[in-house]
Amino acid sequence: MRIHDQVAIVTGASRGIGAACAKTLAREGAHVVLVDLLPSEETKQEIAQINPNVKTLSFEVDIRNKEAIQDLVKQTHEEFGRIDILVNNAGTASRLDLEEMTEEMWDRDIETNLKATFFLTQAVIYPYMKEQQYGRVVNISSISGIIGGHLSGFEPGSTKGRSGPAYAASKGGVIAFTKWVAKEVGSLGIAVNSVAPGGVETAITKGMAYNVDNQSIKRMGTTEEIAEAVLYFASKESAYTTGQVLKVCGGAAIG
Ligand SMILES: NC(=O)c1ccc[n+]([C@@H]2O[C@H](COP(=O)([O-])OP(=O)(O)OC[C@H]3O[C@@H](n4cnc5c(N)ncnc54)[C@H](O)[C@@H]3O)[C@@H](O)[C@H]2O)c1
Repeated sequence: MRIHDQVAIVTGASRGIGAACAKTLAREGAHVVLVDLLPSEETKQEIAQINPNVKTLSFEVDIRNKEAIQDLVKQTHEEFGRIDILVNNAGTASRLDLEEMTEEMWDRDIETNLKATFFLTQAVIYPYMKEQQYGRVVNISSISGIIGGHLSGFEPGSTKGRSGPAYAASKGGVIAFTKWVAKEVGSLGIAVNSVAPGGVETAITKGMAYNVDNQSIKRMGTTEEIAEAVLYFASKESAYTTGQVLKVCGGAAIG
């Protein structure tokens, strides 16, 4: 097991990519703290099947709430005595284009995807990962944050309904934040990296048309394929890698 007895916090763990990350980290021996707006009972039960030797803790909170974040991080440390891994995964994606974009939707995506990533990263590093002189932070961004929105649409061949400008801006922000923090904390034994998925079959992409024919690998990705990339960044084996963005996108954004 690659992360035996380590402690991982995963946001957005009740379904989709977050649930896959939680299960993969548990399979490799980590105790997992499941954070989501929704109940994480199903993920918890699946983890008990995958690896009965690991403990889970769950928090049903809105990660945009700074006090809730500080509280859950503190409680995690009280329960386990350390925090080794943080996976900032929870996210929202409005599909309004620029003309239709509202302040409310803009704020929702920016606060969930970017501001909450700041809250959690700050809260786990200072003081816990710094005291341990060890930590792994993995931020889930998106190729939308690199190429300015994926070319998906409500209808095949249409780009109406592609992930919107707030989403692209938030994910681009996550990438810049990842690099910035990586430079600050490398000397503390903490690595900060990002996985940028392309189209993956989850609730966010359900019913949307992705033009996978334009990709090198002509299909949608699976949540497990993203989780395996996260595992690499979450493990000790990635010790000399920081501030990096790994695109896991079937070749949709090569270069
Ligand atoms: N599915 C894709 O194609 C794709 C592509 C690129 C990036 N991503 C990113 O991957 C991450 C996971 O997305 P997914 O596809 O699994 O979607 P999903 O909707 O299945 O999962 C997102 C989870 O985040 C939780 N969440 C949302 N807002 C929250 C909040 N304020 N507080 C706490 N929890 C909250 C949701 O309840 C949900 O369980 C997101 O950051 C998303 O932007 C997904």
